[in-house]
Amino acid sequence: MTQPNLSLVDTDPAELAVDAIVIGLHSQPDEGGALLPAAGAESIAAAFEGKLTSTLALLGASGAPGEVTKLATLGTISAPLVVAVGLGDEPSGSAPKLETLRRGTGAAVRALAGSGTVALALPLPDDEDAPSVLRAILEGALLGQYKFAGYKTKPQPNRRDPVAAVQVHVPDAGDAAAAAEVTRAEVVARAVRLTRDWVNTPPNLLRPPQFADAVVAAVEGTGLEVEVLDFEQLKAGGYGGIVAVGQGSEAPPRLVKLSYVPDGVESPKRVALVGKGITFDTGGISIKPAAGMWEMKSDMAGAAAVGATMLAVAALKPRVAVSAYLAMAENMPSGTAYRPGDVITMFNGKRAEVYNTDAEGRMVLADAIARACADGTDYVFETSTLTGGQVIALGKRIAGLMGSDDAVERVRVAGDEVGEPAWPMPLPDEVRKGMESDIADISQTNSNLDRAGHMLQGGVFLREFVAEGVEWAHIDIAGPSYHTGEPTGYWSKGGTGVPIRTLLSVIDQLG
Ligand code: BES
Ligand code: MN
Ligand code: ZN
Repeated sequence: MTQPNLSLVDTDPAELAVDAIVIGLHSQPDEGGALLPAAGAESIAAAFEGKLTSTLALLGASGAPGEVTKLATLGTISAPLVVAVGLGDEPSGSAPKLETLRRGTGAAVRALAGSGTVALALPLPDDEDAPSVLRAILEGALLGQYKFAGYKTKPQPNRRDPVAAVQVHVPDAGDAAAAAEVTRAEVVARAVRLTRDWVNTPPNLLRPPQFADAVVAAVEGTGLEVEVLDFEQLKAGGYGGIVAVGQGSEAPPRLVKLSYVPDGVESPKRVALVGKGITFDTGGISIKPAAGMWEMKSDMAGAAAVGATMLAVAALKPRVAVSAYLAMAENMPSGTAYRPGDVITMFNGKRAEVYNTDAEGRMVLADAIARACADGTDYVFETSTLTGGQVIALGKRIAGLMGSDDAVERVRVAGDEVGEPAWPMPLPDEVRKGMESDIADISQTNSNLDRAGHMLQGGVFLREFVAEGVEWAHIDIAGPSYHTGEPTGYWSKGGTGVPIRTLLSVIDQLG
């Protein structure tokens, strides 16, 4: 599905000849919930001669965040349809919260599927916040428009095509800073949409060799350096964790490395991104229950996110050297599968005793993290659908975050700003003590198979593979990487693209 055509306009919104125009709507807590058109909607409100908010109220609008109300304009303005999106209470500052605006824009553009060209007349402050507010609107629009193409063999009679073009109303359409935000939003959205496509692809169509090929094809011509290790090379190279997990499947594992080096920056900071790429997680010999197992096609969301982040990095050209490591395997039960009880030697020489073949993510990540450190890096940002414990503890929106202080704080701050919240979690000594193995350096999970501190066990295990002096963060995206409910805000069903925008912001900040 293609990204909508995006442009800036500064024509009076009331005179725009588009199929629909989106405005913001606030509720006013002090005035008994009365409605207030958001900034940007002035000329449209004027054209309705004082009847805009009362008509919207009649249609049930309340201004609640994300609420979408459609109103036929019957000739009052050029566009035949106004779509009012709730932005919550009137903001005390110059604009609503960025995430409210991002989600509202996403909801409006999604609700307008079937329209060709849509204009957005949403509140933009005329101060130093303008670029970040515009960024939120652009991201909301481009991501809200996403719909996975799917595999239906017959055309759907009631299918409404995603919006084809979006015009964003700004004070000055010739402004260079605004144009730069459009270019950036297109790059970022392309990365997020690609990740969503990969995550939503059925697991029979995206096994490790195909996933590796798809990533290589996506970055072709970008100037990124590409290295792909196949099964034989992984065995010969000492990647015990990836080999162990991958050996149970007919579709062999891969480790894909993508690298970007900035031009003209002397000894740039070095960042490694690491992603879990389990194209399907059956649990292996420690097999998972049948219910919901299909969702484990999303167990490669971390690798998809870091791979697509590199695509954006290649286009945005930050002043930081960035490498990504995508650890790909399919976790299957079979006669060649790894077993509980196996002792596996990882890439950095440490040995882990396997208790549960369903804790496969940390096995492949151990190798990828150790390889990233061996290549030389200042930071490791690793992301994975690692534990069900993350979903239990923090739910479907907020990622679990563990690691060293500086890296964790960077991810927390960036995540908050871009609308991909991640919550810092501890790495307690007693959790590490619970992972002592009688015969190896560490056990892969708590030796009593105790689920206490479930999410933390993952972080504690991965820490063993980070080299001394390297700043690192582990972002557990088991919940936020895959949206299971009805579409909401700029999230459709399935892959979300979390935490690409966080990683890009962190990289930006380091440059
Ligand atoms: N891929 C799963 C984690 C997961 C669960 C992601 C739900 C998304 C939604 C992971 O490989 C897994 O199976 N983890 C186990 C670890 C356990 C066996 C130590 C878990 O969380 O139960
Ligand atoms: Mn698993
Ligand atoms: Zn998994």
